[in-house]
Order: sequence, then structure tokens, then C-alpha cells
Amino acid sequence: MDKVLKISGVPVTQLATQYGTPLYVYDENKLVEQCQSYKQNFVHPGFTTEILYASKAFSCVGMLQLIKEQGLCADVVSIGELATALEAGLDPDRIYFHGNNKTLEEINFAIEHGVYRFFVDNVQEAETLKKCIEKTNKKLLVMLRINPCIEAHTHEFIQTANIDSKFGISIYSIDEIKTLIRSLQTHEQIVFEGLHAHIGSQIFEKEAFVKEVQTMFSFISDLERDGFYCPKLDLGGGFAIHYTDQDRPIPIESICKTILDTCAQEQINKKTHVKTILIEPGRSIAGEAGSTLYTIGFSKQTPHKHYLFVDGGMSDNIRPCLYQAQYDADVATQMDSEKSRKVCIAGKCCESGDVLIPEMKLQPFSQGDLLIIYSTGAYGFSMFNNYNRNLRPAVVFVKDGKSRLIVRRESLEDLLKGDIR
Ligand code: LLP
Repeated sequence: MDKVLKISGVPVTQLATQYGTPLYVYDENKLVEQCQSYKQNFVHPGFTTEILYASKAFSCVGMLQLIKEQGLCADVVSIGELATALEAGLDPDRIYFHGNNKTLEEINFAIEHGVYRFFVDNVQEAETLKKCIEKTNKKLLVMLRINPCIEAHTHEFIQTANIDSKFGISIYSIDEIKTLIRSLQTHEQIVFEGLHAHIGSQIFEKEAFVKEVQTMFSFISDLERDGFYCPKLDLGGGFAIHYTDQDRPIPIESICKTILDTCAQEQINKKTHVKTILIEPGRSIAGEAGSTLYTIGFSKQTPHKHYLFVDGGMSDNIRPCLYQAQYDADVATQMDSEKSRKVCIAGKCCESGDVLIPEMKLQPFSQGDLLIIYSTGAYGFSMFNNYNRNLRPAVVFVKDGKSRLIVRRESLEDLLKGDIR
């Protein structure tokens, strides 16, 4: 094995020298592979299908350009994600606007820029959307977010469909849902297209998705009995990825097949008007393709721990602190050595909890070696924060021995530009 790790043919030492650390590095071939895997497998003779990349997982112009080139749509949840998708050249027809509390500014911005696909999250949003669209002669295509009240086995912070969830309208409020759909259907500038549900994130169990499909088809069949037709059903995202060796994610091929076969079976049982099935993968497209490269700084021994400090931490990856998320790592410049040293990998932020990996065995290292943490491609860069006024790392894409800068490293000038003197 080479001493120095290569990512898609590029030695990490070269990346660190050229772009500095910390650095978010994406294997572009892997991103393309994930997109194509969804494109090839999320197909069924009985339905039209659409794949929406959940851009919250990792959004920047370069990534959204790739999404466009791969023929996927994008879901956005804020004016920032929306502007990023537009800037990347995504056709407004391929942008879907999500969110439980879209502001007037965001709604008007979307409409002005030709975005007309909205997920309505609650009753007040529907009323607001009507007022906004009435000021124009445009139309909106609207789907309603339902909370299917299915508890998926994942961290409680990333469960989205428990009974008290802030997202969507509870499936138990059928009368409220019918009234809302009627008010959307009867509006001249609104086309009601169907329902949306999302049960959580980093979900490993196929059964949770099967239950979601069954629940939604039963619900749609109840609605359709009263004339509320739902031609589209969006099942959200949430498909788990591999972070550590304990993780056994469902392969994309298999989850696509399970979902669509269950839809087809439910269609036979319930005979609904559902024609189009949508999904919204985020993490499973961007997650495993991305890694973070750090430079190892100081280290120290305490009575119970051997600390290794890196030049980033909870500002570039908040997930270990927020969800006790687990990651795997290597000393990327000592790959030919045994992983024999038990360490605690901590960041440079002024917070005791700023630990990226609490305990793992790592290759022997010295100050100046590079450390790589794998599978940081989703919700790493996108959840970056400036705690301690740390500067946001650069993002690079690597492919077949070449690298290109996707997001420039934040400079001190960038950091200070909003501060009024
Ligand atoms: N669709 C909707 C409506 C969502 O709320 C989400 C994620 C997705 C799709 C994409 O889910 P994915 O395929 O990426 O699991 N920050 C957390 C994850 C929050 C996910 C929120 N919603 C984390 O770092 O684990």
C-alpha cells in the first residue's frame, strides 16, 4: 500500500499544498455514480418517476451544476439554496421549494424567478401562497406535506415524522387536510398535485419505507374516495450511508426496487390515481463521495486519553457534537502503517465537546501529517458555522487524477466584510 493516500488519483499531499487544510474533498466520479444509480434504478413501468436531490445535504454552485448535468431535479428550503440552484443554471421547472416557514421574501423571490413548484407545509402557508400568486398572472403547482407519523429508528434530532413533528400536517387530521386540499383545488391559479412525506434521515430499515408507502397509499385511497385526487406522491429521502464498519446501508438498487414494487402492489390493492412517484435523496448522493482533510497539529496525553488535534473541528463538522455521529479516519500520509495507536481526535474550537472521533485506533503520526475523515460529504459543508470565527474551508472536486476548486476558502476579508466599522 502507498504511504500517501490518493483520492481519485490525486495524492492528498498535493491537495493540501494546493488548497490548504481543512479541505472538503469530493470524488466527482462517486457523486456521478450515485446520481446515475438513482436514475437507473428508480424506474418502474407502472409510474413516472422523478429524483429530487435534497440540496440541504451539500449545496454550492458546482454541486448543483453536477446535479443539473446528471438530469436530477433539486429540492431547496431557503432563498439561499434556491439562488444557488438558479445560479447553477437549473431550470426553474426542476426546482421544488420545501420548508415549514417560508418567508414572504422567499416566496416572492421564487415566484419572480419562475419557480412554481411548492410543497405546502401548513394551512397558513397555503393562504400566504394564494395571496402572493394572486398578485401575478402565474400558476403554482402544489403538493401538500403530510406527517405520516411513522417513527423511524434514527437519532431523535433527525426524525421528522413523529406525532409532534414541526413538519407537515398530521395524517390524523384528515378533515383539516380535506378542507385544505379543497381550498387549493378550487383556486384558479393553483394546481394541486398530490402529497409528500419524509420519515427521517440515515434510516437503515427497508421496513420503515415500506410502511411509509403503505400508509401514504391507504391515506390517498381514503382521500380519493371523497374526490381528492392525488396524481403525485413524494416519499422524501432519508436513505442511510456508510460512515463506519458497523453501518450496513441498503444499496440504492435495492431500496429503489423495494419502494417502487411496494408502490405497484399498493396501486393494485388500493387503485388510486397516483401516476408519479418522487424521492428526495440528499445524504446518499453526497455523503460518501466527500471526505475532510485536516493537518494534524499538537497532541497530548492525559491520564485516560491520547489527544490528536486537527486544524478544524465542530465548525466544519458539527455532526459528532449534535448527533454523536460516528466517523472513520486514517492518517492519510501514513497509510502503510498499522492502526495501532488509540487516540481521541479533537478540533481546535473552544468547547470541550469539540471532538470529531472520541476513540479509535489510528496509524502512528507526527505533527504535520494529514488526517482524513471519510463520509463527510453530506451535512458537513452545509452545516458549517463560524464559531470562534473559524474560516470556512475550501471545497474541491477530484476526478481521474485532476482536481478543481469548487468553493474558495473563506478569507479574513470575507469574514469581516459584513461587520460595520
Ligand atoms: N426531504 C426532506 C423533506 C427532508 O427534510 C430531508 C432531510 C431530505 C429530503 C433529505 O434527507 P437525506 O436523504 O439527506 O437523509 N442534518 C442532519 C440531517 C437532517 C436532514 C433533514 N431533512 C444530519 O446531519 O444528519
